[in-house]
Amino acid sequence: MLSYHPPMELTRIGVTAAAGAYSVIIGGGAIESLPAELNAAGLGPRRIIVSSKRVWKLHGKRFRHATTERVPVLVDDGERHKNLVTVGKVHDALVKSNADRSTVVVAIGGGVIGDLAGFAAATYLRGIRVVHVPTTLLAQVDSAIGGKTGVNHPLGKNLIGSFHPPSLVVADPVVLDTLPRREFRAGLYEVVKYGVISDPSLLDRLRTSLPAIVAHEPAAVAPIVAACCRIKADVVSADERESGLRRILNFGHTVGHALEAATKYRRFRHGEAVGYGMLAALSIGVVRGVTPPALYEEIQSLVAQLGPLPRVSDISSKTVLAAIARDKKVVAGKLHFVAATSRGHTTTLTDVSEKEIRTALKTLGLRA
Ligand code: NAD
Ligand code: GLY
Repeated sequence: MLSYHPPMELTRIGVTAAAGAYSVIIGGGAIESLPAELNAAGLGPRRIIVSSKRVWKLHGKRFRHATTERVPVLVDDGERHKNLVTVGKVHDALVKSNADRSTVVVAIGGGVIGDLAGFAAATYLRGIRVVHVPTTLLAQVDSAIGGKTGVNHPLGKNLIGSFHPPSLVVADPVVLDTLPRREFRAGLYEVVKYGVISDPSLLDRLRTSLPAIVAHEPAAVAPIVAACCRIKADVVSADERESGLRRILNFGHTVGHALEAATKYRRFRHGEAVGYGMLAALSIGVVRGVTPPALYEEIQSLVAQLGPLPRVSDISSKTVLAAIARDKKVVAGKLHFVAATSRGHTTTLTDVSEKEIRTALKTLGLRA
C-alpha cells in the first residue's frame, strides 16, 4: 500500500569528511532523483544494492532504476542480525559478483542495513564507496550521516567497526509510510536527543505537532528530518572521528547501548533503549546539580507521550553495568558521559561513578 505524495522541494546539506565532502538530499521525491544524483557524483559504473528482504519487498520497485545489477544483495535486518555473519554474506555477494574498487554499494534500509553494508564496503578491497538510502526515521535523522559503520559483538554494542563516510545520502520520507508504528516511534527518541543536545525547538515541535508527525505527514516529518540532519552534519563535519564535539551525539547512548547488550539485542529497538538512556543521563545530571530538574521532567513527560517503552523491571543493574564497562566511550579507564546542562546544551562528565549509574538505573526501574 504505497501512497502518493506530491513532490516537495528537496533540501541539500553538505557534509565535510576527510575522505571527501558529500551531500545529504532530503525530501519527498528525493528517491526519484537518486540515479541522477549518483551520476552527478560520479558514483558508478557498477552499483550493487544491499537491502533487507522486508525493505525490498515493500519498496524494491522504487529502486530498480538505481542499480546496474539484476539482483540486489538481500540480508536479514533487525538488531540481532547486525553481526559479522551478516557482513560475511555481503562480502560473499561482492566477491561472487566480481565487484571491484570502482563498484559502489547502495545501502537501502534502516540503521542496521546502513551500519553493516557500510562496514562491508569499508572492508571489501580495503574500502569501496557506499551510498546510504535510509528507510527508517532513525536512519534518516541519524545513522545514515557521519560514516560510523560496524556491527555488534555478543558482549557489546557496535564494538567492531570503522569510520567510512558515505559518498551520498538520499532520504525520502515517502518510504516511511510503511514503517510500523513502533519503528517510527523509535526514531522519534533520536529526535528528542537532538532537541536536548542542540535544538530545543525540536522538543516544542514534537509536543505540539505529534499527531501530524506520527501520521507520517511529509510536511511535518521532512522539516524534522532536515533539522536533525543539519545538526548531525555540522557536528560530524567539525569532529568526524569523535575526539570532542561528536560525543554529544552519544547523549543517552551509554545506558542505551548497555540495555541493548544486556538483553541480547532482542528486546529494545535502538531508539527505545536511547529513550531510557536519556532519562538515566538526565537523572544523573539532576543528582549532580548540572541538569535542571525541570528539563528531566519535560523529557520524562515527552518520552511518556511518545508511547510505551519495553519493560526493564526484570533486567539486573549488574548486567547493565558490566556492559557499560565495555563501552567504547570508556577512554583510558574513564567513562565519557554526556549530561544536559539546559535545553540545547550539554557538558561531558568524566568522573561518573558506578554508584551514580546504579542509582539512575534504579530510578528507571531496573532491579539491583
Ligand atoms: P533497523 O535497521 O533494524 O530497522 C528496523 C525495522 O524496520 C527492520 O525490521 C526493518 O526491516 C524495518 N524497516 C526498515 N525500513 C522500513 C520501511 N520503510 N518500511 C517498513 N519496515 C521497514 O533499525 P533502525 O532503528 O533503523 O536502526 C537501528 C540501528 O542503527 C542500530 O543498530 C543502531 O546502533 C544504528 N545506529 C547507527 C548510527 C550511526 O551513526 N552509524 C547512529 C544511530 C543508530
Ligand atoms: N549516533 C552517534 C554518532 O553518530 O556519532
